[in-house]
Order: sequence, then C-alpha cells, then structure tokens
Amino acid sequence: MNTQIDNLLHEYRKFPPSEKFSREAEVSADLYDEAKADRLEFWARQARELLHWDTPFTRTLDWTNPPFAKWFDDGKLNVAYNCLDRHVEAGNGSRVAFHWEGEQGDTRTVTYAELTEEVKRAANVLAGLGIGQGDRVAIYLPMIPEAVISMLAVARLGAAHSVIFGGFSADSIRSRVDDASAKLVITADGGWRKGKVSALKPAVDAALEARGDLGPQETVTNVLVVKRGENEVDWTENRDLWWHDEMAKASAEHDAEAFEAENPLFILYTSGTTGKPKGILHTSGGYLTQCAFTHKAVFDLKPESDVFWCTADVGWITGHSYVVYGPLANGTTQVLYEGTPDTPHPGRWWEIIEKYKVTTFYTAPTAIRSFMKLGRKIPKKFDLSSIRLLGSVGEPINPEAWMWYRKVIGAKAAPIVDTWWQTETGAIMISALPAVTETKPGSAQVPIPGIAIDVVDEAGVPVGADSGGLLVVTEPWPAMLRGIWGDPERYKETYWEKFGDKYFAGDGARLDHEGDIWLLGRVDDVMNVSGHRLSTAEIESALVAHPFTAEAAVVGASDETTGQAVVAFVIIKESMLEESAAVEDIAAVLRSHVGEQIGPIARPRDVFVVNELPKTRSGKIMRRLLRDVAEGREVGDTTTLADTTVMQIITGQVTAK
Ligand code: PRX
Repeated sequence: MNTQIDNLLHEYRKFPPSEKFSREAEVSADLYDEAKADRLEFWARQARELLHWDTPFTRTLDWTNPPFAKWFDDGKLNVAYNCLDRHVEAGNGSRVAFHWEGEQGDTRTVTYAELTEEVKRAANVLAGLGIGQGDRVAIYLPMIPEAVISMLAVARLGAAHSVIFGGFSADSIRSRVDDASAKLVITADGGWRKGKVSALKPAVDAALEARGDLGPQETVTNVLVVKRGENEVDWTENRDLWWHDEMAKASAEHDAEAFEAENPLFILYTSGTTGKPKGILHTSGGYLTQCAFTHKAVFDLKPESDVFWCTADVGWITGHSYVVYGPLANGTTQVLYEGTPDTPHPGRWWEIIEKYKVTTFYTAPTAIRSFMKLGRKIPKKFDLSSIRLLGSVGEPINPEAWMWYRKVIGAKAAPIVDTWWQTETGAIMISALPAVTETKPGSAQVPIPGIAIDVVDEAGVPVGADSGGLLVVTEPWPAMLRGIWGDPERYKETYWEKFGDKYFAGDGARLDHEGDIWLLGRVDDVMNVSGHRLSTAEIESALVAHPFTAEAAVVGASDETTGQAVVAFVIIKESMLEESAAVEDIAAVLRSHVGEQIGPIARPRDVFVVNELPKTRSGKIMRRLLRDVAEGREVGDTTTLADTTVMQIITGQVTAK
C-alpha cells in the first residue's frame, strides 16, 4: 500500500469538467451554499422534492438520543410506491426500468409498468405466505430481475429484506438467517456464472437443515424458488414453492400501504473486526432520500435520456443503493447484467455498453485494473461513445487506473466521480459533483452537499490541510445506519466510542493542501479485496475450525489487481503433523475450507504453513510484520516481539516456498 500512498500524494493533475458538460448539467455549485446555509432544511427539501410522502413529515432530524438518529420520523411513505407506481401514474410506465442481459446472451426488457405489476404480484405472494411489517425475508438470488422484484415486494409490505450475496456459503446463509430470524428465503435453482450454471438452492437447503451441532433452522417457514438455471434441485414438501407457480396465481392488484419513515427497510451483513458479521440496519425515508439525491447529483442524472449501469451485485450495498433504490426512485433506465465481465469473451462489458448505449457507468477499481492488464485493444473494438460520465467505488483508485479509465473508457472527456461511502453510510458521502468539481486522479475529494466530514487525529482534533489522520463524519446524515441488528451496544462501541460525538468510519485519510480528501485504506482489521469487505478475524476463525489448524493469522497484503489479497499464516497442530504431511497440497485444502465456511470470495490467495507466529509479550499477533513478509518487504521493527528471532524463521519459511 505504501507505494500507492506515495503515489497519491504526489498527484497534482486536475481535470475541470468540459464547458458543455457544465452547461447541460442538472446540478450546480449552489447546492453547497444551500446546504451550508441550513443543512437540515436542505435535506428536508430533498426529501419533499424527490419523494412522495403519504403523510408529510414535520420533523427533519431527531438526535435527542445519540447515536440513534431518526429522520423525518413523523412522515409516512411507501418505498416501493416511490420506486414504481408513481412513475407509472406520472405517465412513464412505458419507460424501460431494466435492460436485463443474461450471461448467455438471453435478454429481457422490463418497463416501469411491468416492474410495478410484477412487484404487486410478488407482494401478494409474500403477503399470502404471512409476510408483513415487522418480518424479515432473506434473498439469495443471482442478478436477475426477480432479485429486484423480491426486494421491492418486501419493501412494499413494510417488511425488511436481508440480501445474501450469491457467493456466500451455506454456513454464512445460516448465520444470517438465524441472526435476522427470517421467515422466508427467496432463492433460485441456480444462475449463470462463468459459462455454466452455478447452483444456489443446495446452499439454502444445507443452511436450513440440521448439521453438525446445529439443529434445524426454526424461523423459516417457506422457501420460494425462482427457476433460472434449470438445474435439478431437491424439494422439501410443505416448505418449498416455485416462484412462477405462486406468481401465476397471484393478483396484480396491490395497494401500497404507507409506513413510518423509520420503518426498517433492510439488514445487510458486513464484515467487522470480529469474527461475527454485523447486520447493518437501514430504514426507509432518510435512506431513500439520500440515495435519490446522490444518484441525481453525483451522476448528473437525466432520467429521460440516460442509461445507467452500476455493475455491483445486489448482494452488496452498492447494488442496494445504486441498482435498486436510488435509480428506481429517480425513474432511471438501467442495465442489469447477470454474469461475469469476461464471459464468454473479455469484451463482454464493453459490448453491453455499446448495445444499450450506456451513458453512465459505475464500477470498482479492481475491475478497471483487471481490464487495464488485458490491454486497451479489447475496449477499443467497441463503440463506447455513448458514455458521458464514469464512476468508481469500493476502494481507493490509483491514479494510473484513473487515467486509463478516463482515456480508454471515457475518451478523455467523461468526468470521473470517485465515490467514497460504506455499507453503514447507506449512500455516497464523498464525491466530486461532475459539473462543478475539478477532478483529481486518486482523490475522492469533497463531502457531498449536506454531509459533514473531517480528518482528525487520535484525540479527535482536526488535522487540517496537508495532514493525515482518521476519517470521521461529524453530523448525522439521512442514510446513516440506524444500528446493528439486535446489538445496540456493538453499534455504539464500533462507531461512536472512539470519539464520542463523531462517527468513526475505520478509514485512514489525508487532506491535501487544497483540503481535498484522499482515502488511504482501512485502519482496522478489515480487508478490502476487489472492493469487498472481509474481516481478518472471520477468516482466521474459519481456518482454525479446520482439524489441521492450531493457530492462524490473516493479513491483507497489497495486490496489483484486487487492491488487497488475503494472505494466511497457519500453524499445524502437533497431533496432526503426520496426517497433514500426507496431504499433497495443504494450502489448497485450507483455501477451499475457507471457501466452504464463508464463501469463495474469502479464499486466501496464499496460505503459508509456519512454525510460529509473531506475538508481543502480551500475546497479540503483530500483523504488521506478517504484512511485510506477505508483501515481500524488509520486516519492520521487531523489538516488541516476545521472541525476536521468529520473523527470521517465518521469512525463511515463506521465501523457501
Ligand atoms: O475502506 C473504504 C472502502 O470500502 C469500505 C466500505 O466497504 P463496504 O461497506 O463494503 O462498501 C463498499 C461500497 C460503498 C470503506 O470503509 N471504500 C469505499 N469506497 C471507497 C473506498 N476507499 C477509497 N475510495 C473509495 N471511493
């Protein structure tokens, strides 16, 4: 990471928006002034103008019980109505909501009228299965229209969804379903990935049945199964139902009831510094306001003519906020793509941009870097001239990748917005406004209007220009998490205890001489691999759950393509030395074990079997030193180690491999 940070701090290029872009833009610099003059009134105006309220709110923010915020709390609205019906009622029913593209090239065009009808039907199906306000529904689906339909049907009923990314294992599904006490799981037989059907239902079946020391899952009464992969699946009578059978029976009439602005909308699990994922809770009115506002302002949205494509899976926060809620609240036409970027050929994404004339493209630096590696020849084969704006999210973007994105994908004209935010923040917090800000490669730059951010030292004192420290949010914001599901204490401890009155994001940052913000990565034991958040502790506990493993330490080592990569150091149990020696590739065994326990995304890139781990006298593992080894650097200061020779041994063992 160090060379990257150095790189960032010597980057002074600036790119002003073109005169044409600024002239035609939807938003101007006035927004900053307005928000500065009266921050709460600014958000209240956004909430009133961007959303439909059945009962208008009179209170903007209730912060009398910090850190538990309430926004617009005496107002009532229906989130799905805001994303669907009102666009149809306004005469835009024939506008395309999604150009859906399956990996195999099969397509489906879904208009707002059709999406509304499908969601109404699905809401009737769910209501028939006993789902209503106060319930949770787990969703484990590929990137097919039914994923969006399911989320909106749950929202329409005032229930909360918990979307589980398709790359998670049965164990991860089980812990999430248990933690949220979900009543229903919506899944598919399978979905297309890398040219073949990848089964999904078996993982749900395994998650719900009794296994090992776990009894059968007790809260789920039904599993609704979308037919997509056409693969054979096991069937549990009285529990499993085919989506298409139930949808065919359901009425397409459904009146959306209005719910309180603070009604839970979803729980999304994310990795923290401990082994147990946190269920981040988001509610309705404030979340939708900030999603809609940022989607409009940061992406300079022109709903009549733009085709927006955010490549994130709906299993992550980016998919929640910028595939589902923000764009649909704004009546946007989007692309939804099921598969991987390189199937069946490495130009698949560019082909889709050409085909649907995508104007606004939002993706992660890891993807940009992997395309960069393949060379510009591939995108150059396609007509990308429809693109007018590019976005980046999920991890710091190095200036080299930023410049490549600008030149090769954006034809040196499209502004790039580097957007910083988190599962917890719900929506974009730091970003350029494309018509206003002169962009700088590698810097996320400035808080969006209405958001208060600072960089402080360990004592909470602002560091000022040209200095580094910790990123904090200094005022509550509409889309902020409302807590950790079922664990208010952990919410307070994780985000608020450190500074008392400021939200601690867990990211290091630096302000440059002009006050622009540069994100420098996590300062805790959270890793960022391909823009996905993973916890070192969670992977360590998966590793020690293997019978061979006595101890494990995991670090995030910098990786040219994925930003960081998971590198594990494990000690084999004395009693297992003989047995493990008989295994041909022990690293491969442990890698796939992590894949089974958490999911393929968590599989370490490298597993090194070592005899010792570097520990302080109090027994704390010094990950910093292991990171030095993993990144091939000279090992740093070892004086606080209980045994200072350990690092020589480890380095020797690793380099001998
Ligand atoms: O470290 C920051 C990094 O991703 C973390 C949040 O991860 P997650 O909750 O999974 O949400 C990712 C998508 C919003 C942050 O704490 N991160 C996110 N965006 C950026 C970033 N780091 C640098 N620059 C960004 N634009």
